[in-house]
Amino acid sequence: MNLAIIGLGYVGLPLALQFARSGVRVLGLDIDAKKVSALNAGRSYIQHIAAGEIKKLVRAKKFSASTDFAEIKNVAAILICVPTPLKKNRAPDLSFVLNTGKSIAPHLQRGQLVVLESTTYPGTTENELRAILEKHSGLKAGKDFHLAFSPEREDPGNPQSKVADIPKVIGGYTPACLAAAEKVYARAIRTLVPVANCRTAEATKLLENVFRGVNIALVNELKGVYAAMDIDVWDVIAAAKTKPFGFMPFYPGPGLGGHCIPIDPFYLAWRAKQVGQETRFVELAGEINRAMPEKIVAHVAKALAAQNKKISGAKILVLGLAYKANVDDDRESPSYVLMNLLQARGAKVCYHDPHVPVIRPTREHPQWAGKKSVKWNRKTISTCDAVLISTAHAAVNYQQLADWAPLIVDTRNVLAEIETAPGQVWKA
Ligand SMILES: NC(=O)c1ccc[n+]([C@@H]2O[C@H](COP(=O)([O-])OP(=O)(O)OC[C@H]3O[C@@H](n4cnc5c(N)ncnc54)[C@H](O)[C@@H]3O)[C@@H](O)[C@H]2O)c1
Repeated sequence: MNLAIIGLGYVGLPLALQFARSGVRVLGLDIDAKKVSALNAGRSYIQHIAAGEIKKLVRAKKFSASTDFAEIKNVAAILICVPTPLKKNRAPDLSFVLNTGKSIAPHLQRGQLVVLESTTYPGTTENELRAILEKHSGLKAGKDFHLAFSPEREDPGNPQSKVADIPKVIGGYTPACLAAAEKVYARAIRTLVPVANCRTAEATKLLENVFRGVNIALVNELKGVYAAMDIDVWDVIAAAKTKPFGFMPFYPGPGLGGHCIPIDPFYLAWRAKQVGQETRFVELAGEINRAMPEKIVAHVAKALAAQNKKISGAKILVLGLAYKANVDDDRESPSYVLMNLLQARGAKVCYHDPHVPVIRPTREHPQWAGKKSVKWNRKTISTCDAVLISTAHAAVNYQQLADWAPLIVDTRNVLAEIETAPGQVWKA
């Protein structure tokens, strides 16, 4: 079997490699020619994906990459893993999905299977994507070609999490479409979870992400509530999670990050409005989570004031730029918001992140592009007025941090087990 995977990013590339490892010949397609040539040369551009693995599969002719969409003519299935961001007004930006649909439609063959993997609102596959594929191919979904939706589940930074072992939800446009998709995924994934249709599969992914967003908002809110009662929310969560049923721990932080949790719930909110429904949990969680960076900066101001200093003019190091521990992904990272807020209040801001040595250009925060992670040594750390822990990478030596930094604001409770001086660490 041959298949094509479109969009070779954090989702598409690991999936492509998993199919290739399982003996399927995979054609990776991307509009980014640099990624395509890196892959064909056996290089990786994602930290947790080993170049050796790519090289091996390219050499074995199990995997190759291209920018030429005409090549999809020769495959049995086409899996789409392109971005689904939000527009400025928090409305879904389906342009990547629809452009992909336009690119593949002219080459679509009878009997092929098209699966959308990108997270999106219920209805996208059977309405928008189907319409564009049918219009530009002259073929009919469910009759001439198969169509399905299967959401990706990723746990970046978790080495235990393997694509093959994560159950895969699949919804088909017709029962035959579902059967075709199950046959393809069964080659590479151990457990398949067939559901009623594409929109149920789309809704499943959104439930999973809304669930996280809402629960993170809950602990973020409780952090402030409990602090006002002189209770440490981290102690409360540690105790609560000993309950052997009906509780799942979520942890507070400086705000939401990543390509999923800050974005996907608003795909649902947008679609809900179209059908006359409200999504109050989604909106409230968004409000609470978005307010976190401001609250953290207020903590920094308080901590500095206790040392007779102000944010204005202070040298503040933000520790951890990636949105999550132990990954190099800085998309939507609240660290950028913290840096913006601190700089706006007159701080001299620098950052350290062992996984992000230099800031790549981003659409949202172009002003930080090219800034380098400062060196990790006594001189750099001890000359900062404050260190703000935003993301707690395991590769950072927190004992050294405690030995060197005059003032630390800890949003991740990472210093809980480390001995520090009175007044040196502020939990935020
Ligand atoms: N990153 C995650 O942890 C994660 C987890 C679950 C679901 N998702 C969802 O998966 C989808 C992809 O996310 P990602 O993190 O892999 O994004 P990404 O930005 O890492 O990768 C997307 C890739 O698609 C390419 N691309 C864009 N437009 C294209 C087009 N028209 N044709 C071909 N290639 C194109 C880009 O060049 C890029 O390489 C999104 O819908 C996201 O919400 C992501």
